[in-house]
Order: sequence, then C-alpha cells, then structure tokens
Amino acid sequence: MNIIWHSKSKQFHLYNDKISYIMGVTPTGDLGNIYFGKRIHDKEDMSYVVTRFGLPNVALDPDTESYSQELNRQEYPFFGATDFGTHAYEVEGANGSGVSCFIYKSHRIFKGKKALPGLPATYAGVDEAMTLEVVLEDELTKVKMILSYTIFEDYPVIARHTVFQNEGTAGVKLKRALSACLDLSDQNYEWMQFSGAWARERMPVVKKLSAGSVSIESKRGISSANQNPFVIVKRPETNDFMGEAIGLSFVYSGNFIAKAECDSFGRLRLLMGIHPDRFTWVLKTGESFETPEVLIARTDSGLNDLSQTYHKLYNNNLVRGKWKNTPRPILLNNWEATFMDFDEAKILDIARKAKEAGVELFVLDDGWFGERNDDFAGLGDWVENPKKLPEGIAGLARKINAIGMKFGFWIEPEMVNPDSNLFRRHPEWALSTPGRKSSLGRHQLVLDFSKKEVVDYIYEALKKVMTNASVSYIKWDMNRSLTEVYNADLLPEEQGMVYHKYIKGVYSLYERLRTDFPDILFESCSSGGNRFDAGMLYYAPQGWCSDNTDAIDRIRIQYGTSYGYPISSIGAHVSAVPNQQTGRSTSIGTRANVAYYGTFGYELDLNHISDDEFEEVKKQIIFMKENRELFQFGTFYRLRSPFEADQAAWMVVSEDRRKAIFALYCMRSNVNQLPGFLKLAGLLPEEKYSLRGEEYYGDELMNMGVTLGKLGSNGMTIGRDFVSYVEMLEAK
Ligand code: DGJ
Repeated sequence: MNIIWHSKSKQFHLYNDKISYIMGVTPTGDLGNIYFGKRIHDKEDMSYVVTRFGLPNVALDPDTESYSQELNRQEYPFFGATDFGTHAYEVEGANGSGVSCFIYKSHRIFKGKKALPGLPATYAGVDEAMTLEVVLEDELTKVKMILSYTIFEDYPVIARHTVFQNEGTAGVKLKRALSACLDLSDQNYEWMQFSGAWARERMPVVKKLSAGSVSIESKRGISSANQNPFVIVKRPETNDFMGEAIGLSFVYSGNFIAKAECDSFGRLRLLMGIHPDRFTWVLKTGESFETPEVLIARTDSGLNDLSQTYHKLYNNNLVRGKWKNTPRPILLNNWEATFMDFDEAKILDIARKAKEAGVELFVLDDGWFGERNDDFAGLGDWVENPKKLPEGIAGLARKINAIGMKFGFWIEPEMVNPDSNLFRRHPEWALSTPGRKSSLGRHQLVLDFSKKEVVDYIYEALKKVMTNASVSYIKWDMNRSLTEVYNADLLPEEQGMVYHKYIKGVYSLYERLRTDFPDILFESCSSGGNRFDAGMLYYAPQGWCSDNTDAIDRIRIQYGTSYGYPISSIGAHVSAVPNQQTGRSTSIGTRANVAYYGTFGYELDLNHISDDEFEEVKKQIIFMKENRELFQFGTFYRLRSPFEADQAAWMVVSEDRRKAIFALYCMRSNVNQLPGFLKLAGLLPEEKYSLRGEEYYGDELMNMGVTLGKLGSNGMTIGRDFVSYVEMLEAK
C-alpha cells in the first residue's frame, strides 16, 4: 500500500496489492480521475489520458480553449462550468450564484485514518491504511474543500468523504454535498440495487446501464427497506464467482442518493451521498461541514469476493468495542411469543424454559414501560409499568440473571406517542411543521433529535433504567419514517439542515450510551430492516434483519443482505409456526438452518413446542455454540440463488479453509428431475475433507460438487417443500 505524489505531473497514485486509484490536477486546476481498477504500474505522468481538444457543442475552458470537463473524467464535479453531468456539490455564494471553481492548493499524505466527528466511519491503524487529503479552494468565496481518500492495506477499498470549510468573510450555502463521485471510462456495466419494503428487505435488482441514468434514494429520514444505501456495478458476465464489480456503500443512516449516469461519450459516472432534496447546509464564516463516508470496493473475482471484502472490512474496521469479532450470545426474544401482553410471571416462565434449552440471553421486547399495552400509547415514557414489572427492569434482570441468563431489553428512543406523558409535557419536542397536520406512523410521532435538549432528555431517561439494572443487550428500534420535518428553533434558511441534524442526534445518543455502557451489545432495528446500513454497524454491531421470520422468505432476505453486510450483523431468529407473517409452516430444523447464518436466537415460547422439538432445540443450541464463530465470522459464499432456482445454498469456510458448513434449502420440490450436484467453494483443493463419513478432495467438492440425493429424492421428486440440511466438512 502506498500513496505517491508525482509533483511534476501533479498526479496521485494510491495503490495496494489489488487496486490502483490514479488522479491528477487538471489543466483547469481542479481534480480529474485518471484510473480506478486493478493494480497497475506506477508512472510519473499519465496525462496522456487527458482529452485536450473540443468537440462540437462542447464548452471549453477560456484559458486553455482546449480543455473541457465534459470530455474528461472528473474527481468531484461541480456545477456551473463545462461539466453538464450530475454534479457532486454546489456551493451557493452570498450573491446567490451556484457557480464555483475549486483549484488545487495543497495536499497531505499520512498513515492511518482520521475519525469523522459525530459520524460513523471506518477506522484504521497506521499500518492498516494511508490517507490522502487534497485541499482545493474557491478563490471567490474563500471556501476550502478537502477531498479525503483512504486506501487500506488489506482490502481493495477506497474510503472517501469531503470537508467544506468557509474561510471567507461571507456566509455560503451548501446546496448539495455528495460524498463521492467515480467517473469510469466505459459503460458496459449492470447496476445492482437492493430494494424491497417491510418484511421483504434487500431483494437484489439488476438493471442494464445505457444512455441516461439510474438511481435509488431515500427521503424518509432513514436509509430504508425500500432502497438500501449499497449498490454494485458489475460487468454483464459477472456472477458470484467471477468477473469485475465495484461496490459503493454509504456509511450513513439517513436520506441518500446513489446514481449511475451514462454520458454521451461512453463514460459512466457513479455518485453517492446525502440526498440533495431538502438539504441545504448554511456555512457561516469559520464553519465547516463534513460529508459522511462512502466505501468503494472492487473485485475481479465475482460478487462473493466483493461481499467478503465488505464483511471483513466491517468486522475489522467498522464495528468497535467488546463485540468486534466476538461471537454473539444465543438469545430468546419474547416479541412474537407475547407481543405486549405479558407480566413478570409469564416472562419468567418463558425464560426458565429458554434457560433449560441452553439460551444465554433473554430479551424483553416492547411493552414494559409507561401505559404501553398496545401501540397507541406510552412511547417516550421510559419508566417501567409496575403492573407488568413490579420490581422494574432491575428486578426482572436480577431474576433472569438468577435463572442463569444475561438480560437485555427493547427501546425506541426516537419516538413519542401523542398519548404519553412526554408528549403532554413537551408537544414541541415532536417533529412538526407549523400550521400543518402531523402525519402518524404506527400511531406515533418522531421526536426531533435535531434538538440537543430532546436527545439529552432521552439519554438521561434511558441511562437511568440502564444504570440501575444489570443489562447486557439493548434492541434499539425505530418504527416510522420522518414527516413534516421542521425545527422551529432554526432560521428559515436553515431548515434544510434538519434531516442531517436529526441523524447526527441519533448517532450522538448511540455514542453516549455505548461509551457509558461499553459492554452492552446493541442491536439496531427499524420495523425489521428499515435502517440496516453500514452507518448503524459503527454503533450497533448487529441489526434485526426483518420482521419476516418465515424461514423460506428469510432465505431470500438474508441472501440479499449478505451482498453488503456480514453474517455477524444479520439478526436471525427461529419463530413459531404457522409463521406470523406468511402463515407458512416449516420444520424447526429448517427454521434453525436459516437462522444459523446470522446472529441466531429464538422468538417464541419454548413451552409451546412439542417435546421432540424441544429436544431438537437443545441440540441446535449446542451445535450453534460450537460453531458460531465459523458461522458469524467465517468466509461466506453464496452458492445457489433463491431468486433463480428452487433450491438455495450457501456456506461458510474457516479462515484456514479446513472447516466449512454448507446449507441447502429446498424452497419448492421438483418432480421428475435428477437431484444433481452442489459445487462448494473456498476449500483447499489438495486437502481431503470428511463429509457424510466419506473422504472427498477439496477440488472434487468444488468442481464436481456434492450430490444432492440427500435432499430426499425418491426417484420422482427432489426434496419436499421447505426441507433443508446443514452439513459440516473438515479436512483431516
Ligand atoms: C418492530 C420490530 O421490528 C419488532 O421486532 C418488535 O421489536 C416491534 N417493533 C416492537 O414494537
């Protein structure tokens, strides 16, 4: 890994073993991209790539009359001059003009990586990464812009973000401040996004790119289940096992846009950042604004390789604290067992049975506080309901601990019900716009976390409950989108700052709580996976992936999620059948076989399953305890897509590649077909692995595959609907 500055040609080359990122100062003094791709040799001067002629109807820089931004790949394109594509930023000066001209001034190269104040970001020690900061300045407004690039030693990843500093004498407005732009030299790519809705999150969608643009976005105040802030562009032939692909992941949990734009000259522009709609940042003299981070990863070896890069990067350089690379406790959550209809006796009953099964952590979900007996009331009143918990959270935690399990509980700190004491005392704390109706979502309003006093109040209230009790885990929920966004304490021209201030308020509360309680395992949640993004992983190392706990639907949801996020982050539980959301019944074995590829837990009353099932649950827990490190932190491979076949398969492989566990799920039985083979991945070709009491070479298993006869082929039918199996193989 290195960052080279060629002072004569004014070019930078960032490289590691796998990638090269080359850019330079353009004839107009700003920054242009030269190359991003597989590692290539360093050269003093690559300005031969610069187009120095005009074409009809192309605007040219007046000083050179031979250079147009439109005909050259830009690094961080701006509004107003000779580039007509989507621009990455816009600084509006005091005279109302959005035209700017940022010119290279200086740069700094250093080992390691800086933190982004108040924002989530990857971190790296001095041996793990190098950072380049390029300073540009707009001579008219005296605004400085610092483009930051970090290259990692071990990952084909560039982390980017930008800082704007107003060093002028007049205020300016940032009308747009995306985090990254990447101009590529050809358009032969497909775009892959992860779309859905509640209970069907992160379904992969692939589109061919051609003239014009494709984009995804969220304007809900949360990253959303509708579009995840992670996209891939890949060559049409690229699949999970081969081919070139580039990923862009936004380390942010609020409004965003990700866009691919094919220009008229065969190039592709990729952009990612905070959504410019309803975004305006007022920058007074002396103030600065920092964009969130985008992580750009690249592979030549297929989408499994790209995903593995993100998985490792997040596990090693995004997740912090005690739970970094630590296998997760097996938990039982009472939500689907009781909803809000419980008292302490009922909870202890469920907990005792969970302990008997081997569960390690009991999680009390929604309904323990205020007048919260249904979802019409109570949010905001973070004081225990004595009718349900006579000795409070502290008393229940004590009793759960005495049973022999750790204890955790549910909160939804960003919300308030109109029917709550908090709202009666502080109606002005809910997000609302003067003179307008306030929309409700799940009968609740959103607390205005752009106001510090609101965050402070919630912090004190939660801290009190958490301090008094022995708490090992917190599930942080968030169950609606933001509407009528307005902060009456801000000036009219500052209203475009509210969405971002809100999410920074959320981050600040997370940071305070995790600093006060460093051992607590936080799990983020947002009606399932409505806010499942890299930003959240900086605070909460795992996220409830979906409210849809049906094993068959979950295969798709977890499969889609795995493109961008590690298995250690995917909250996955075994729940009761018929499933609450789909009405489908699957065996307890299949439900566990899906949940193993996640954080693993239960979300049902184990008193209500048969004795045989209970015995199976005990075995599942023993199996998961023995193998959770491999499941959660092993190298994960997607083998067969549930979107393309009637069977889905995936596997995890240990770091030394000597142990692996694969799973095959029959989503739909198939009549009059041969069972076929499943090709495994990631093994040592020369090693012999034991599987099903036989020995197989690694190359045999990866190229010929394992037979699928075990699915229960009876000569007529492959498998039965929803049958699955998980098998382990180990090198001698
Ligand atoms: C939505 C979450 O996704 C569920 O798991 C559960 O915690 C409920 N909220 C509780 O209200």
